[in-house]
Amino acid sequence: MATGLTVAVVGATGAAGQTTLRILEERKFPVRELRAFASERSVGKTVAFGGEAVAIRKIEAAAFKGVDLAFCSAGSAQSREYAPMIVKAGATVIDKSSAFRMDPAVPLVVPEINPHAVRTHQGILACPNCTTIVTVMPLKPLHDAGRLTRVIATSYQAVSGAGVKGIAELREQTLAWARGEAITPKHFPHQIAFNLIPHIDAFGPDGYTGEEMKLVHETRKILEAPGLPVTPTTVRVPVFTCHSVAVTAETERKITAGEARDLFARFPGLRLWDDPARNRYPMPLVVEGQDDCYVGRVREDLSSPRGVTFWVVGDQLRKGAATNAVQIAELLLR
Ligand code: A2P
Repeated sequence: MATGLTVAVVGATGAAGQTTLRILEERKFPVRELRAFASERSVGKTVAFGGEAVAIRKIEAAAFKGVDLAFCSAGSAQSREYAPMIVKAGATVIDKSSAFRMDPAVPLVVPEINPHAVRTHQGILACPNCTTIVTVMPLKPLHDAGRLTRVIATSYQAVSGAGVKGIAELREQTLAWARGEAITPKHFPHQIAFNLIPHIDAFGPDGYTGEEMKLVHETRKILEAPGLPVTPTTVRVPVFTCHSVAVTAETERKITAGEARDLFARFPGLRLWDDPARNRYPMPLVVEGQDDCYVGRVREDLSSPRGVTFWVVGDQLRKGAATNAVQIAELLLR
């Protein structure tokens, strides 16, 4: 008799959905049956899973009958609409959108950091924002060792964080630039090729963007540090994969650069990559395709006696989305 779970991937044609399919295969997640969903535009297309072509289905309650676990990465509006329906059909939902992250009844989980949170779920578990995951991974061991009192984080975020349209836009603009053709932004508010755009998500009245406030609120929820002061700046950069974050963290107890390096080296899911004499430091091209977040450029803060500053890079489609979601599913199975 076949063993394993019936697993749904909603948003299976997208950047995060495609990566979820690959990670389920790589980690040999016990899938008995895979059901793939996307928008109605994609019904009739197929996605590859386990060496087979799986047809994309239309999202409707009946299609989720018998599903044990659903990974959702079709966007926040879609999650708001579909996740309650999928739970009602009997499945547990691991949602990669921002729809439920700050709901007090929904655990927001990074398995290396707050695995205990999964126990409280009521059908939906949320996967944090990709930049938040990459940022909190090195913050957690610092917080445990010295209690964080302040965080300043500036991100350099890849276009694939904006999905397949973001990837296509950087590719098309780069080719147009090389041909000397005019560039017209479609998905991003400005040209992204050979540019940086300090604007991800809508601006709020205080001048911070939605993406920046996700980093603030989600960091506090995951670290269970409700009042932690966080100053965020998030920037879209012309890189295909991997988010990089320059972080300065202050702690109650001084943590030296050496101690921070030891803490990072020992933390599961982090890899210390810090040998400036040999030009070794994390970069998107080093980290792409990896599940670990790489930390380097670790040094003491020149402007604060209890600050440490460093550079962390993570593949945001993997640890920032799909790997983290599949790790949550693995926790549920334990
Ligand atoms: P589709 O390919 O049919 O548009 P990305 O984040 O890479 O842009 O991917 C978004 C994913 O969400 C895709 O799989 C996309 O499917 C899916 N999607 C977008 N809009 C909807 C919708 N209204 N209902 C269901 N799935 C959607």
